[in-house]
Amino acid sequence: MIPGYFGRLLIATVLALAAPTLVCGQPPRIEQQGDAYRIVVQGKPMLILAGELGNSSASSEAYMAPHWARLKAMHLNTVLAPVSWELIEPEEGHFDFSSADMLIRNARAHGLHLVLLWFGAWKNSMSTYVPSWVKRNQRRFPRAALADGSGLEILSALAPANEQADARAFGALMAHIKAVDGEQNTVLMVQVENEMGMLPVARDYSPAASAAFRQPVPRALIDYLVAHRHTLQPELKALWEAQGAPTQGDWSKVFGGGDASAEIFTAWSYARYTDGITRTGKQAYDLPMYVNVALNRPGRRPGEYPSGGPLPHLIDIWKAGAPALDMLSPDIYFPSFGAWAERYHLPENPLFIPETNGAGSPRTGANAFYAFGALQAIGYSPFSIESIDQKPDTVISQAYSVLEQLAPVILAQQGRHRIFGFKARVLYDGTVLDLPVTAKIGDYLFTATFLDRWVDKARQDVAAHAAIVIQTGPEDYLIAGSGVTFTFKCADAAAPLAGIDRDEEGELDASGVFRPGRLLNGDQTNQGRYVRLEPDHYQIQRVRLYRYH
Ligand code: DGJ
Repeated sequence: MIPGYFGRLLIATVLALAAPTLVCGQPPRIEQQGDAYRIVVQGKPMLILAGELGNSSASSEAYMAPHWARLKAMHLNTVLAPVSWELIEPEEGHFDFSSADMLIRNARAHGLHLVLLWFGAWKNSMSTYVPSWVKRNQRRFPRAALADGSGLEILSALAPANEQADARAFGALMAHIKAVDGEQNTVLMVQVENEMGMLPVARDYSPAASAAFRQPVPRALIDYLVAHRHTLQPELKALWEAQGAPTQGDWSKVFGGGDASAEIFTAWSYARYTDGITRTGKQAYDLPMYVNVALNRPGRRPGEYPSGGPLPHLIDIWKAGAPALDMLSPDIYFPSFGAWAERYHLPENPLFIPETNGAGSPRTGANAFYAFGALQAIGYSPFSIESIDQKPDTVISQAYSVLEQLAPVILAQQGRHRIFGFKARVLYDGTVLDLPVTAKIGDYLFTATFLDRWVDKARQDVAAHAAIVIQTGPEDYLIAGSGVTFTFKCADAAAPLAGIDRDEEGELDASGVFRPGRLLNGDQTNQGRYVRLEPDHYQIQRVRLYRYH
């Protein structure tokens, strides 16, 4: 008996000692639950409720000093912040990581995580964040060129010296982050480069690039096209099949010439370049890594918009050329948020939104709800977040406060078809399609209406209204959001009558347990006819439905 007791004690002690080591030793990673992706940090999944800093803010500790606490108070759990090549390698081979250390120190002091943005050779299609010793040595670090031979302030992705120098600096940064943060995991993920793309033409015309453009399309890309023929993004599939789906030939033969094949060539060169940088970084410290993309205005030609980035029509080229990346992530600066985000919510691509415009706009809360509720996003991050942190009760902080409460429930139910997002469609030109939306959630049909009947129509921005519904039991739901009214039916068309058994407003505690406030009935549910989330603020209701006949 005694050996058994000590044996159990020994096993318990060994497990107790081993468990934290196992969890702490593993860097943040992306895993799947059902058909949803999520990031797991120190053994626990999290929703990334983030904001990205303006480009120059993180270069000064003094400038940032008042912002950290305010961002935390806005219910962010993560800040996206750049780390630039020019700051970390001011002299070749001499590294200064004080800018990254400053971010990590301050984020930790305020209980925040970081996603670091590697401003290396590419920043918004340009190469302005490279160190001076790279900028001034064009012979050693060749530039992309126009067709007339004139150089651009953009490094050429076809010059191995550029990739090697960029990768060496990035690898050094990742090794440093591992050394100072491998245990604490303040840094969750890293963005590789920033909005790669070619301007003002569809491809690089430097001698090395033009020579590569005359070569056959690489075997690896052809093999990918053949293997993924039935799931290729429609634009690429159409281009390739219009040529007869050739399995050999140069870029013009395989993709049909003109700007389209020049852009695909650019995408492939950028993807291969990025894959090399990413591999070097991951060898040093294997954090999740992604690239972000400046989206294209429909009707413009590649080069008029940044050509060759991981745009919707080029997703397959990037997946084939940069398999080391975990994600391709859209920066959404157009009103039609949902349509763009949907293009990146793919079985092989976790959805992360690193940038949106309008951090202070009422629509940003609705977009966050749609991303997490309808598209299983792992994270959401309005740009220039510190520019709005002086206003105490912004829409994004209200939305994040509710998402922070919902997070344990969302993370428990993710990937099991129990979480739904509702938001009015907005077209590219800004037109809002104010139509009700119906979804089957469990055994009930939920119809969402986005125009609130009790508030003056002229005062409402219907596109700022959104809701998340989470099924927590056979007839139990959490309904959260702002400006959406729900009516209900049974999904069984032969017996469609459904009513509200109970509706309570309330909050969720840190472990996701509902703490009820008012019991809602009477005028608040229009005598049992609906569940209403009032416009202009975010709230949570716990609802039990029932059927009658
Ligand atoms: C997208 C870029 O990725 C950001 O760094 C910033 O330049 C914004 N555009 C807009 O200012």
